[in-house]
This record gives sequence, C-alpha cells and structure tokens, in this order.
Amino acid sequence: MSPEDELAGSQSTDLPASEPPGFDTSVAHSARVHDYWLGGKENYAADRAAGDAVIAAYPGIVMSVRANRAFLARVVRFLTAEAGIRQFLDIGTGIPSANNTHEVAQAIAPGARVVYVDHDPIVLAHARALLNSSPEGATDYLDADFRDFGTILRQAARTLDFTRPVAVMLIALLHLIVDRDDPYAIVSGLMAALPAGSYLALSQVASDIEAEQMAEAAKRYNRLARETQRHRSHAEIARFFTGLELLPPGLVPVQQWRPQSELEAKAKSAMWGGVARKA
Ligand SMILES: C[S@@+](CC[C@H](N)C(=O)[O-])C[C@H]1O[C@@H](n2cnc3c(N)ncnc32)[C@H](O)[C@@H]1O
Repeated sequence: MSPEDELAGSQSTDLPASEPPGFDTSVAHSARVHDYWLGGKENYAADRAAGDAVIAAYPGIVMSVRANRAFLARVVRFLTAEAGIRQFLDIGTGIPSANNTHEVAQAIAPGARVVYVDHDPIVLAHARALLNSSPEGATDYLDADFRDFGTILRQAARTLDFTRPVAVMLIALLHLIVDRDDPYAIVSGLMAALPAGSYLALSQVASDIEAEQMAEAAKRYNRLARETQRHRSHAEIARFFTGLELLPPGLVPVQQWRPQSELEAKAKSAMWGGVARKA
C-alpha cells in the first residue's frame, strides 16, 4: 500500500464525546505528575505522592518544569517570528497548560498549523483544549506513541504539509524514552522524513546537573510511576542533534536558551534544551 493510500485510509482522531476514557489513577503517570508540579488540577493521589517524592530528592523540580514551559514558549516564538516556521509537530504534549504551542504560534502567525501527539489517555481526555485553533490555522490531536513515528507521520499529514518545513517539538519527552527503545533512531527517522529548513527543538532531564539529587529523584520516581525515567548527560542529549545545525546558544540549561528577561535567565533547572535546523 502506498503512503497516500494508507493516509486516505486513516481515520480521524476520535475524541471522547463527553466522558474521558477510563485510566488507571492508582499509579503515577508523567503527564499528571507534571501537571501537579505546574500547579494544575488534573492529578490524583498517586501522582502527587510521586511528585512529592521527587521534590524531596530535588526541591528544584518545580522551578525546573516551569523554566521548561517558559523555554517551550520562547522556542515557539523564535521559530514562528524569526525562523518563519508555520507548521509544528508537538510530541509528548502533556495536559494543556499555559502557552500551548498553537496559542503562542498563532498569536504571531494566525495561519500556523499544529499537530499534538501524546499517548496518555488523560491528555486525550483534555485534548479539546488543544483544538481551539484560530480560523486561519489548524490544530489536530493524535493519540499515538512517539515510538511508532511512522504512524505519527502518516496521520499528521492530514494537517501538515511534509513538503514544507516543520518544527518537531520534543519538550520534556525524551527522559521518558528508555535506551532499549532506541530514541536516537526514532529522532533521526523523524527528521529524515522532513524537508530541509525543518527544525528539531528538544529539552530533556539532565543526569549531570545536580547529579546526585537527580539520580535520587529518578530512583524515587521509577519506584512509584508507570514509566521509567532515563536522565541523560549533555553529551548524550547532544547526540540527538547529529547531522543537524545546532543554533546558538547551543544545548544549554533551558533557562539560558535566549531568555527574554533577567528573571527568566536566573531560574534554575536540571534540563538541557536546544534547537537545531536541518540544512
Ligand atoms: C513531562 S510531560 C511534558 C509535557 C510538555 N511537553 C511540556 O514540556 O510541558 C511528558 C509527556 O510525554 C508523554 N509521553 C511519554 N512517553 C510518550 C510516548 N512514548 N509517546 C507519546 N507521548 C509520550 C506523557 O504522556 C506526557 O504527557
């Protein structure tokens, strides 16, 4: 079957009509723990217990996830306003929060098109908040797994034109992809499918910033949560950009990526972030 035939045969995402699908609230999930740290309401006792266990090991986690969210907004602003990007593939979207990708992009370019992807049922349950596109632009939500990137590319092609540049956003996702799933092959497979002028923006939890605290935080999280966290070093994360042109200031703590104020720059985080262009 040709990719076109497969695409023609793919179904639109079925969002829940009213009730969210059932999900297991007895075990912590990254989307809900992240929501807890961001001060959201879409979390349960198990998520808060895992979140608190991490806070006890690394109290900076709350500031870190907020600095990461600010990084996301600055990256989207840069890509839209300065790099001229009009298409985004945001994988590992998380529960809608402030400054979702389409809101930031469409505030600058109302015609921007954004496809969100997450595999957590609770994110699917809240996906309608991600679909309030400007009339000129478009948004879609795919309930799909990053590791199955062929499906993501096929289904995203309903909304994105893959003959034109696309920015792939992997913001705070890759620490949830363990080595046996070969995240390097997935990232390079995704980027290989995109035309020149496309971008890769990513942030990932560090193993070499506040190393002792982060190792303890990972240990505690992994005991309590469904997914296993794999923190990575600067060198390990830089490898995701192989074959791409890393933009200044390079792979840096997220708060140091083109901060817009002294306050932003002064935040602390244990996450590396960067943006690269496919030549
Ligand atoms: C820490 S949250 C980050 C949310 C958002 N990108 C941000 O930075 O604020 C990670 C998200 O990745 C999603 N995720 C984890 N593994 C995934 C996978 N294999 N495929 C798709 N999404 C995944 C989780 O469900 C969660 O919503």
